Amino acid sequence: MKKGKIYEGVVREVKFPNHGIVETEGGCAIVKNTIPGQTVRFSVSKIRKGKAEGRLLELLKPSPKEMAVMGENGVEYNPEVCPHFGICGGCTYQSLPYEEQLTIKETQVKKMLDGVISSPYIFEGIKKSPVSAGYRNKMEFSFGDEVKDGPLALGMHKRGSFHDIVTVDHCNIVDEDFRKILSFTLQYFQEKRIPFYRKLTHEGVLRHLLIRKAVKTGEIMVDLVTSSQQELPLSQWVDDLRNMKFNGTLTGVLHTINDSLADAVINEKTDLLYGNDYIYEELLGLKFKITPFSFFQTNSLGAEVLYETVRSYIGDTNQKEIFDLYSGTGTIAQILAAVAKRVVGVEIVEEAVEAAKENAKLNGLTNCEFWAGDVLKVIDELEGKPDLIVLDPPRDGIHPKALDKIIRFQVDRMVYISCKPTSLVRDLEILQERGYQVERACCCDLFCGTPHVETVVLLERKK
Ligand SMILES: C[S@@+](CC[C@H](N)C(=O)[O-])C[C@H]1O[C@@H](n2cnc3c(N)ncnc32)[C@H](O)[C@@H]1O
Repeated sequence: MKKGKIYEGVVREVKFPNHGIVETEGGCAIVKNTIPGQTVRFSVSKIRKGKAEGRLLELLKPSPKEMAVMGENGVEYNPEVCPHFGICGGCTYQSLPYEEQLTIKETQVKKMLDGVISSPYIFEGIKKSPVSAGYRNKMEFSFGDEVKDGPLALGMHKRGSFHDIVTVDHCNIVDEDFRKILSFTLQYFQEKRIPFYRKLTHEGVLRHLLIRKAVKTGEIMVDLVTSSQQELPLSQWVDDLRNMKFNGTLTGVLHTINDSLADAVINEKTDLLYGNDYIYEELLGLKFKITPFSFFQTNSLGAEVLYETVRSYIGDTNQKEIFDLYSGTGTIAQILAAVAKRVVGVEIVEEAVEAAKENAKLNGLTNCEFWAGDVLKVIDELEGKPDLIVLDPPRDGIHPKALDKIIRFQVDRMVYISCKPTSLVRDLEILQERGYQVERACCCDLFCGTPHVETVVLLERKK
């Protein structure tokens, strides 16, 4: 294959998360954001270590698995497919029926696990999310424009674009309340002619709109993230939001200042404009306070399935000491605390640790403690020896030095939860070399419509 040349072919399979292997007459190439069975046209953008990588130019024929047909003007999707699909960069599996999405994810993860797991283990397949549409409890929408110098837009980045934003006022993975808040906020700031923050020149004001809504309590928190370059007419925005009718209840409106150059929601200062700077969610009968910037699984009902799985994998906790490393707001620690002797959570975001402590009090748990800091360092300061360890690291997995310290506790059982199987298999290789054996594994789908998936693995120390 030659760099710059255009090819056509059929996507044979997709490797996690979105790397389609396209077979052409000239050979195979990796083309991102494709679906097995699609016929695509692409140009070769790179040849690395003899492998060609292509940039998708056109979908010539949808996959027989997709909810789509070839119409006169190109691919036509069934009405149940999100209307933003294909343009919005948020979801790439929306055109597949949910069962097909599950099959792809399960097959990808099983293949990756089989590639590294060195002894027989039980693979229990994939557990589905109880709801596959409107499941998100949190969204971070970005302000921008759909085309250069176009009208203000609010939503997600266009697929493959760093700059362009597509307004997702019919987004399928959130519920009606999110869509209402998005549409109203966009219209409000369009009318007030407030400029969005430009990432290249660092000029402008509107950056992100963060919305969290608890599924069980219905509480909604809205946080507008802006630069400090202009005074904003926010009191009318707040009043109008408070007067709107929602299925849930608006319990907090916030304004966060972010003048940092990074294109991420960074909290430099947050003013409370109305109500509370937190919401409460309930999982498996326990109550959790969620603050604007602390980690909380984004699919509450799916999280219950995940945490039930963790509970069943960890087994008997009676009078045991458990370490919950990378503990977020302390959800797993508290779900395991009932009959345990002591549960210790470690989490780097202080706000999340404070929320975890409050949550434990709220749930009447006196055997949980939470430490703020990097697992790599805090682990040296923890007193006591754990009997069981739960690991739920961020996408990049566990720092090798932290993993070494974790292994040195020599616990009999560990449960590793991972939202990125490529990081998981890297860490599993080390865990196996150091005396652990994978007993069971399964996937839990918390990210319907997207290629992402959670994987849970039970490891036991070889006797
Ligand atoms: C995938 S989340 C898991 C959170 C929690 N177990 C849950 O289910 O809600 C990973 C968490 O690890 C935290 N984290 C990231 N790097 C860390 C580190 N080096 N040490 C401690 N915590 C870290 C993140 O802030 C995040 O809350």
